Amino acid sequence: MTTETIYRPGLEGIIAGETAISTITGGLRYRGYAIEDLAEHAAFEEVAYLLLYGELPPPQALADFSVRLQKAMTIPEPLVAALRQIPTDTLPMDVLRSAARLLAHWEPEVNDNSHEANLRKAERLLAQLPVALAAYHRIRNGRELPEIDRNLTFAANVLRLLTGKTPDPLEARAMNVTLILYAEHEFNASTFTARVVASTLADLHSAVTAAIGALKGPLHGGANERVMDVLKEVGTPDRAETWVRDALAKKVRIMGFGHRVYKTGDPRAKYLKTLSRQLAERTGKTDLEKIAEVIESVVVREKGLPPNLDWPSARVYYYLGLPIDLYTPLFVLSRVVGWSAHVIEQHDHNRLIRPRARYTGPDLRPFVSVEDRSE
Ligand SMILES: CC(C)(COP(=O)(O)OP(=O)(O)OC[C@H]1O[C@@H](n2cnc3c(N)ncnc32)[C@H](O)[C@@H]1OP(=O)(O)O)[C@@H](O)C(=O)NCCC(=O)NCCS
Repeated sequence: MTTETIYRPGLEGIIAGETAISTITGGLRYRGYAIEDLAEHAAFEEVAYLLLYGELPPPQALADFSVRLQKAMTIPEPLVAALRQIPTDTLPMDVLRSAARLLAHWEPEVNDNSHEANLRKAERLLAQLPVALAAYHRIRNGRELPEIDRNLTFAANVLRLLTGKTPDPLEARAMNVTLILYAEHEFNASTFTARVVASTLADLHSAVTAAIGALKGPLHGGANERVMDVLKEVGTPDRAETWVRDALAKKVRIMGFGHRVYKTGDPRAKYLKTLSRQLAERTGKTDLEKIAEVIESVVVREKGLPPNLDWPSARVYYYLGLPIDLYTPLFVLSRVVGWSAHVIEQHDHNRLIRPRARYTGPDLRPFVSVEDRSE
């Protein structure tokens, strides 16, 4: 087969590599486990371990892993000082990307791409990124960073770092579930970016930094922040139907709908909807759920486009009282596990990723020296 015959814009439907980490065939599964089961029964730490090490951890391995993560939940003082210098109107997503890169300078094994070193680096980065994000967020609000609570889960500590308060069980569960659902999704744009970088034998921190850049865009991770813009713009349930019909008529892309690979529905969105409703009732913000329901039913009916994970996750973060510009960074805190697992898999079985392009430029033409060129 020639490159011409297998070309598809956006690589749609193209198998671009092999992975044993997750599949979306027959529902989303991480290393063979259905995400619904993981979200229902597991702590994010178990899922992170599963993705990185390949198996669910036995009790002692989980305890050790959790302790390692908690101990690594700290960032070097010079990085905190650097975060203090950043203009306070900088997007946290941009700061997080810089932080991921800067952390490499204090990473003792930065250029060791061995399987074991990559695992150790992945653990440290997973633990450090929430601290870096929270440090910047707290600094921009003139607040101190709270201590890690060793009795709390990773999800509860993430919320505590950002808000300064220990979350209640429902809040901690909501964060735990979103972290699990966002953790991994085979060859999405940011993961593919990470694998391309890793395939040059660049280090894990370089791959993750590039992946954060790819995740920022509104067609990918950035959509969860834009979803909130939509819900806020609509304002009240009675305006929702007119707003969405109008938007669809103008061919506006409704953030949080559609997906390159899920054409009949995103299982993660289905799972999270129930939790979103629960939180809405608890916080008395049921109007937002009503707006979301109307928009969802119109987009599904009129365009046949089901919601993706960002549709309910934006509401969940909103009910947790988190600022909107932290939504995509929260996606990073979870997806860093998936990216790391893919970097490890790539390094372990590497072949440089270097596809071809179909050329659409001019044919060969003679060089014209500058004095002979017309203006
Ligand atoms: C995710 C996404 C980029 C996938 O896009 P894709 O596979 O390239 O699909 P296409 O862009 O080819 O869209 C196919 C059709 O559906 C429409 N469409 C896709 N997503 C849409 C959306 N969110 N709102 C309105 N229409 C949409 C396109 O306009 C196109 O219509 P057309 O055939 O009349 O031109 C796209 O659905 C999107 O932009 N969604 C909003 C952003 C988002 O939520 N991203 C998070 C993804 S997890």
